[in-house]
Amino acid sequence: MANESTSQSLLKRHAKIERNATLLLVLAFVVVTIGGIVEIAPLFYLQNTIEKVAGVRPYSPLELLGRQIYVREGCYVCHSQMIRPMRDEVERYGHYSLAAESMYDRPFQWGSKRTGPDLARVGGRYSDEWHADHMEDPRALVPESVMPAYPWLAETKLDFKYVADHLRANRVLGVPYSDEMVAMAVTDIHAQVDPDHEEAEALLERYPGAQQRNFDGRDKITELDAMIAYMQMLGTLVDFSTYDAQANAR
Ligand code: HEC
Repeated sequence: MANESTSQSLLKRHAKIERNATLLLVLAFVVVTIGGIVEIAPLFYLQNTIEKVAGVRPYSPLELLGRQIYVREGCYVCHSQMIRPMRDEVERYGHYSLAAESMYDRPFQWGSKRTGPDLARVGGRYSDEWHADHMEDPRALVPESVMPAYPWLAETKLDFKYVADHLRANRVLGVPYSDEMVAMAVTDIHAQVDPDHEEAEALLERYPGAQQRNFDGRDKITELDAMIAYMQMLGTLVDFSTYDAQANAR
């Protein structure tokens, strides 16, 4: 039996490895190294591990500043922005979050604490007035709310002197803002709060689907404008009536 004797001699040789701790360690190290290289090395050559999804675009300058105020005020301490793919979550908040939906978030706002509800798809759920009143005094709308009030957002003029730099910083981190987007950043803020602005249509070409209106209903461009613009676009970029997870996976 030729086969039997080969396996017998293989076993004998393996016994050698098992009895020599140093040899076993060295060989185990070699095997794990090869396994590691096979698994990890391809990731360095992939441009992107996130699949592309139609509709996802970088934040408009106004939305980006709203997002920065969100981070500044620590909203993430109580709010997550990631709908987990579990039935109770999906029934409450809508389609589970896709990786692509936070691909331009620097840093991401997934969060792990939910004193308040998840905000990943809060866009369009309430009116602008609701958001304005809620920021001014959460308990005026939800009597049992423990959320702090943020009345200064409505009174503070939005500082967008450096918004082009914010876009540039995001570009360094991989967000595809074009030179045009950077150059037009300040104009785009004016155009987003005024649908009659001469650059209003150009804004839409740069940021498809951007919502344009006076978000806080005040004359000045305030931090509240930026915050509501950000809230109202959260989770609205992907059209889930046509999104096909299976087709995307293929
Ligand atoms: C101390 C925790 C806490 C902080 C900080 C906080 N929230 Fe909330 N938030 C809540 C709670 C609790 C609710 C649910 C009750 C309510 O609607 O007020 C809520 C509700 C909300 C809702 C309504 C969500 C929905 O689907 O009904 C929005 C929008 C919101 N918060 C935005 C913000 C923003 C923006 C900030 C930062 C400026 C913020 N929150 C900071 C606790 C917090």
